Amino acid sequence: MAPSAITPPAVDDPVVSLGKQQSLRVADSHESPATAYDAVEAAKARFVARNQTSLKLHNEAAQSLPGGNTRSLLHNAPFPVYMERGTGYQVISEDGDTYTDLVGELTAGLYGHSNPIIHATLKSTLDNVGLSLGATTKLESQHARLICERFQLDRIRFTNSGTEANLHAIQAARRFTGKRKVVVFTGGYHGAVFCFSSGKPASNNIDLSDWVVAEYNNVEDAKSTIESTSDVAAVLVEGMQGAGPCIVGTDEFLHAVQASAKKANAVFILDEVMTSRLAPGGLQSVVGLKPDITSFGKYLGGGITFGAFGGRADVMAVYDPRDGSALAHSGTFNNNTLGMAAGFVGLSQIWTPEVATSFNAVGDALRKRLQGAAEGTKMTVTGRGSIIGIHFLQDGCKQLFDIKDRKDDPVLKELFWLEMLEDGFWITRRGSIALILSTPQSEMDRLVGGVETFLKRYERLVKL
Ligand SMILES: Cc1ncc(COP(=O)(O)O)c(C=O)c1O
Repeated sequence: MAPSAITPPAVDDPVVSLGKQQSLRVADSHESPATAYDAVEAAKARFVARNQTSLKLHNEAAQSLPGGNTRSLLHNAPFPVYMERGTGYQVISEDGDTYTDLVGELTAGLYGHSNPIIHATLKSTLDNVGLSLGATTKLESQHARLICERFQLDRIRFTNSGTEANLHAIQAARRFTGKRKVVVFTGGYHGAVFCFSSGKPASNNIDLSDWVVAEYNNVEDAKSTIESTSDVAAVLVEGMQGAGPCIVGTDEFLHAVQASAKKANAVFILDEVMTSRLAPGGLQSVVGLKPDITSFGKYLGGGITFGAFGGRADVMAVYDPRDGSALAHSGTFNNNTLGMAAGFVGLSQIWTPEVATSFNAVGDALRKRLQGAAEGTKMTVTGRGSIIGIHFLQDGCKQLFDIKDRKDDPVLKELFWLEMLEDGFWITRRGSIALILSTPQSEMDRLVGGVETFLKRYERLVKL
């Protein structure tokens, strides 16, 4: 039976829909442009005309924030759309437009903007517990127990973000092994100061001299780099590279990385900050991996700032404060009451193993339809389950194994983004989609229709 959109009773959300989604296009907005560049310029002009309030807010914000920005990913030329609020699976801009939210807060927004269970939990936590107490609470131990059970971990610790989770996981590996270097992979993103998208450490990374970068999905390169480099404390890899967007690691590659890390006596850290939502036990349970340490983040805080890392008891013991020589791991908000409570109800009551399985099947079905639409064009669709990547590539290559295979057509990519906004879809500029749980099937159908129309409208420019 074909999977359909999952809205289990527990997450039935009475306030999700603002009514039938409208396209934001003006009737005669599409001439037949001579080049993709002309089409982008025309789409940009329409964008500017439609978002005058956002433009004003952006100019004001630039007086106090550099470039009006405090989160680089959200900077978009000519200026970002300002959102006023979100409800259910939709966001509403300061310019008064309603969008279907496909950004899904880069996977953290799995529960949407107004899930009643999350709402009720946040409210009752405020009423009955209070904001962070500067003390140990039962909230953190119950969430820890549940995550350990779900992802087969011996021990876990909480952080404020996925970046911090990787930071402390790496420090644990260094203390545990007495070694220093970390092997990572081309195109990897492990947080704000751990970025390897250009194949080498980004200039804002920390510990610049301690990274060794091997090629993603290249078994031989991974093996030889891990096993022949001296002083390797950890190997850090994503099962699917979220920033790719969505370049999927092959099973063979991921198993080879795990085996080589073991041979090199290095700690194998699997970054599941995004991918833990791809199956009840995370991507590792699908691929059959058994990492020493896994890092987590995003939706596991129920929509509140969150990160965690956990795994083998002996490695995690480096942070056991009962041992006088343990490493310290501090963080004012590590056990913040709202995130601990919302994360726990999210995982126990909403994102049950059954829902995780069926919702990812919905994502798989959507991705296959988009791939069907993309055949014979420069559009390529990648991903797994409920996380999807849309690319526009000069060679239209349909399978991406490494970021260096990705020969972007930046003009078509921008055109697609602008046109999807015009169709009322809020989507990341880089082309990633992280589905929100309550998104109705009708919106996924509308997305497929919108993509088909786009490819037809610009057939001359997109066909291979
Ligand atoms: C795979 C991966 N690791 C780590 C992070 C960092 O998480 P955070 O943004 O919570 O610091 C991200 C964020 O997108 C991510 O995708």
